[in-house]
Amino acid sequence: MSKLNKFKRFTVTSALPYANGPLHIGHLAGAYLPADIFVRYLRLKKKDVVYICGSDEHGAAITIKAKKENTTPQEIIDRYHKQIKDSFVEFGISFDFYHRTSAPIHHDLSQEFFLNLYEKDEFIEKFSEQYFDEDYQQFLADRYIIGTCPNCNYPNAYGDQCENCGTSLNPTDLINPISTLSGKPPVLKPTKHWYLPLDKYQPWLEKWIDAKEGEWKVNVFGQCKSWLKSGLQPRSMTRDLDWGIDVPLEEAKGKKLYVWMDAPIGYISSTKQWAIDNGKDWKLYWKKQPNEADDACLLHFIGKDNIVFHCIIFPAILHAHGGYILPQNVPANEFLNLEGDKLSTSRNHAVWLHEYLEEFPGKQDELRYVLTSILPETSDSEFTWKDYQARVNNELVAILGNYVNRVMILMHKFYDGKIESNAVKIVLTDKHLDVELGHFYDELETSLETYKFRQALQTVMEIARLGNRYLTENEPWKTIKTDPASAKTTLHNSLILIGHLASCLQPFLPATVKKIVEMLNLPFSAIAFDKEMAFANGHQLNPSALLFDKVEDEVIDFQIQKLSDKKAASTPQKQAEIVPAKENINYESFAAMDIRTGTILTAEKVAKTKKLLKLTIDTGIDQRTIVSGIAEYFEPEAIIGQKVSVLVNLEPREIKGILSQGMILMAENSDGKLDFVSAGNDDMHNGSVVR
Ligand code: 2FM
Ligand code: ZN
Repeated sequence: MSKLNKFKRFTVTSALPYANGPLHIGHLAGAYLPADIFVRYLRLKKKDVVYICGSDEHGAAITIKAKKENTTPQEIIDRYHKQIKDSFVEFGISFDFYHRTSAPIHHDLSQEFFLNLYEKDEFIEKFSEQYFDEDYQQFLADRYIIGTCPNCNYPNAYGDQCENCGTSLNPTDLINPISTLSGKPPVLKPTKHWYLPLDKYQPWLEKWIDAKEGEWKVNVFGQCKSWLKSGLQPRSMTRDLDWGIDVPLEEAKGKKLYVWMDAPIGYISSTKQWAIDNGKDWKLYWKKQPNEADDACLLHFIGKDNIVFHCIIFPAILHAHGGYILPQNVPANEFLNLEGDKLSTSRNHAVWLHEYLEEFPGKQDELRYVLTSILPETSDSEFTWKDYQARVNNELVAILGNYVNRVMILMHKFYDGKIESNAVKIVLTDKHLDVELGHFYDELETSLETYKFRQALQTVMEIARLGNRYLTENEPWKTIKTDPASAKTTLHNSLILIGHLASCLQPFLPATVKKIVEMLNLPFSAIAFDKEMAFANGHQLNPSALLFDKVEDEVIDFQIQKLSDKKAASTPQKQAEIVPAKENINYESFAAMDIRTGTILTAEKVAKTKKLLKLTIDTGIDQRTIVSGIAEYFEPEAIIGQKVSVLVNLEPREIKGILSQGMILMAENSDGKLDFVSAGNDDMHNGSVVR
């Protein structure tokens, strides 16, 4: 432990997800997987750590969802709290406590924070003009107002933040604001609120953040500096809303705490509940200790859209309250994209965790592995199913799984799975392996402690690669005949290496490590982050089983197809205008029309017109000229060879000096564009009668 070594205790948090929808891979890669890896590493190092999270159940995110589904906020949070919690458990996200902000202990603590600041006169009380929806007779929460971002001109920025450029906004900053309730421009009305004077704290914040230069990630530090540079403004900590935590003041009846005031306090209330349930002292994890050296190390894992709240607003609240520690680091991730497009809940462009669990049962570690390999640590990154397949097949199956399998199979084949030698303890005897392993442990430690999890996973895979090379070079399957002692040493060393692999993999692939430990027949306590790894003489291994299966093409094709189907389903189709039916005709009138299948042989624009193409059509009967009004929709070169249906007995008529002999049948598609009513397939010969 380099820099972190000085801390006795760690408080690690992952952003509280809004309980307004299921989780997708972007969530996992943003704030949960990195934190889980880090926490598991700390536990391996036998550190005192508490890992805290919970559902964020207030704010407009919840009420908007309830409105959309025509149900109550309570029903929404109950449903998604459960679903989200279950997904975390399934993916091995090892929170010590997963709480929810609707819990009374959280309401109490949030109100205590508010009153603490109120009694110290920290808030600025201000009447302000607030947007009000006259149709709905209510003040509008920030998220109920959208408009154009004054910073980047993004047209759908929210009243509190532009999701395009990340700028934190006030609703009145928006250009052309619209209420999402009525769809009309809202009006301004006066209302009283309590503001956190961020401008007053700016000098203190600057000093605190400047000291993080070089330690915090460049993206996080840079964002903070740019907010500070543009000058912090007081920010209201109360809202006119009917869902949330009551503002604990008589004169504020009907008002609620701003969700970004209560949500981060959720980290503390969650820790409190954990402490109550587990006989711990929550203060050790949150409060400044009499001796500064005893302070816990507080770390917030979040996505980049949460930086301002965790690096500026929450620290300001903690500072104003006093007595609390501040985050040591906020290793925020950028965003994960999916198959060339932004992940989007509204467009259903996502790989949902609950769906993955159903479709890939028992394959949680495969997803953990792939996501860790592509974590958006320094810039946005991208998940594709082909990449998932390649990483599982070429890395997990071919390198890691293969190594463990080779060693286990040979141990069972040659020695019935028994580790026997003349020594009391079987330890690593190969110098080269020992040195290499030492380097890998050092590298791993450095990467993990600087939040470079992609790099860290690469390093672990190097151990498996080292093992495969060692086997290939020493060929125990050959030396078993020529030099049996050497074969045994090779395999024993290989087993020790598997033990180390298991330890180093534990933060990343916990379910796989369980399987390895089971095969090695070791107690779980043998998994530790140190270089001690030994087997007792006579140790019996368990039967071996494959760690990973190859992902077949069909599985991937299905997932890719599923995404494009979802996309098509969520792209609104233009409502085609349906022309009323014409009056009935008799059969003779219909039969009088001679419609044939044909093929376009040539096509060219008719000079001085925009709409007309001159076509030569093979009608099967003859080759004839038809002038058709389709030039706006098709390039002439593109339609040569196109199958068409032709009304061949329409009276010829002269159009722009060209004799047009018949008509091609066209229909409007859903975009309002003309398209061919092509008579079927290629083996339908020209001249066939359409009837
Ligand atoms: O952006 C979000 O999903 C928020 N619910 C994160 C809250 S983090 C914390 F402050 F609670
Ligand atoms: Zn913007």
